[in-house]
Amino acid sequence: MSRPQVTLKLATSLDGKIALSNGQSEWVTGEKARAQGRLFRGAHDAICIGANTAVLDNPQLTTREGDLPNPMRVIFDSHARLSPDSNLAQTAKDVPVVLFCETGQDTGKDALALTALGVQIIGLPKLETGLDIIAALSGLWRLGVETLLLEGGGQLAASFMKAGVIDRIEWFRAPIILGGDGRDAIGSLGLKTMQSVGRLSRVSIQEIGDDIWETYA
Ligand SMILES: NC(=O)c1ccc[n+]([C@@H]2O[C@H](COP(=O)([O-])OP(=O)(O)OC[C@H]3O[C@@H](n4cnc5c(N)ncnc54)[C@H](OP(=O)(O)O)[C@@H]3O)[C@@H](O)[C@H]2O)c1
Repeated sequence: MSRPQVTLKLATSLDGKIALSNGQSEWVTGEKARAQGRLFRGAHDAICIGANTAVLDNPQLTTREGDLPNPMRVIFDSHARLSPDSNLAQTAKDVPVVLFCETGQDTGKDALALTALGVQIIGLPKLETGLDIIAALSGLWRLGVETLLLEGGGQLAASFMKAGVIDRIEWFRAPIILGGDGRDAIGSLGLKTMQSVGRLSRVSIQEIGDDIWETYA
């Protein structure tokens, strides 16, 4: 199957958390790491996030730099929960937004309101863990997306990992500890034996401001 190359970008605490239990995550890493994150956006054809991140953070997912291109924004949102008032929907006419939802939810009232704002809604089969990642990737490939930046959250990152479609990880680690009640960088993987744990290969490690930036293949 032809699919985009996928880079997972993570901004975590030392203990591997991406947000507090209430969903607050602004900001985990420092300004320099966040600026690098925006450069990553400009270097990819599309960025994707899960529905929880879209609802809790109300992000724009733009590069915010005049000379950097803004990639397509993609949301995995089974029930089309994205609000028509959200930053993503309100800017969909300027920077494309694709919303993957469960087949059948793409013609509901909320979906029609989003479509009127310029959001492209695509129905997908829903599996036990959520929307079918492989079908989504092949749909994005057909839309011309060759490189995809996966920005989380943890549940969506886990689904991509289970599907075996993450090619690279850019991991920014901040000198903070959010504790066991924080939200995990990677959701449940259902691993049962240590033999089944994949070992990554570290490509580089460097300081960026107060944070550490590691790249894994
Ligand atoms: N520090 C960082 O780098 C960073 C980055 C991103 C997010 N965050 C934080 O992460 C938190 C949200 O993360 P999260 O793990 O709770 O949620 P998430 O991964 O953002 O969203 C999960 C939701 O996406 C939908 N979904 C659709 N298909 C899916 C699939 N195949 N696999 C997984 N999910 C799928 C599901 O909702 P439906 O059933 O409604 O479709 C699921 O509940 C927020 O607090 C945000 O601030 C931090």
